[in-house]
Amino acid sequence: MIGPESEGSQVRRAVCPGSFDPITNGHLDIISRASRLYDEVYVAVMINKSKKGLFEVDERLDLIREVTAEYGNVRIEAFHGLLVDFCKERDIPAIVKGLRAVSDFDYELQMAQMNNGLSGVETLFVPTNPTYSFLSSSLVKEVATWGGDVSHLVPPVVLEALNKRLRHS
Ligand code: PNS
Repeated sequence: MIGPESEGSQVRRAVCPGSFDPITNGHLDIISRASRLYDEVYVAVMINKSKKGLFEVDERLDLIREVTAEYGNVRIEAFHGLLVDFCKERDIPAIVKGLRAVSDFDYELQMAQMNNGLSGVETLFVPTNPTYSFLSSSLVKEVATWGGDVSHLVPPVVLEALNKRLRHS
């Protein structure tokens, strides 16, 4: 169990997990808010070998590293397997997730309960900034693929990477 082991720890850690293919302003909003609440925030990028993304995992890590550098207390890592194992290995007692709308809640609740049952890790839900309540990486990729403007939805460096990737694919 994660709880009792971390009781003596002074460093308050949390993880923001996801696919981040690519990171959006919505993700960034949640990560920046988590970074103000915790001493250390891990951004954990899931490696999914059965699903090829637009960006390789290393590219996603680099983009996240670049756009979170200013926060100072954010660490970026890739992981495969169970999120609770990632947490256990790093003594992380809390998962921070953004909730965009009620439609997110069903699945998020299932995952939160499963993760808590598996290891005692807690999930904290942060209501997404309403500006980003419709935003997802999939929608960004779809709109950008067809030439739509996503410049207000992703950081400039991600926009540049998107344009480069989509122009050359
Ligand atoms: O950005 P996404 O794709 O919505 O993120 C989903 C993610 C990575 C948070 C979720 O799929 C996950 O935690 N995967 C790791 C595997 C795992 O622990 N599965 C059990 C969840 S109850």
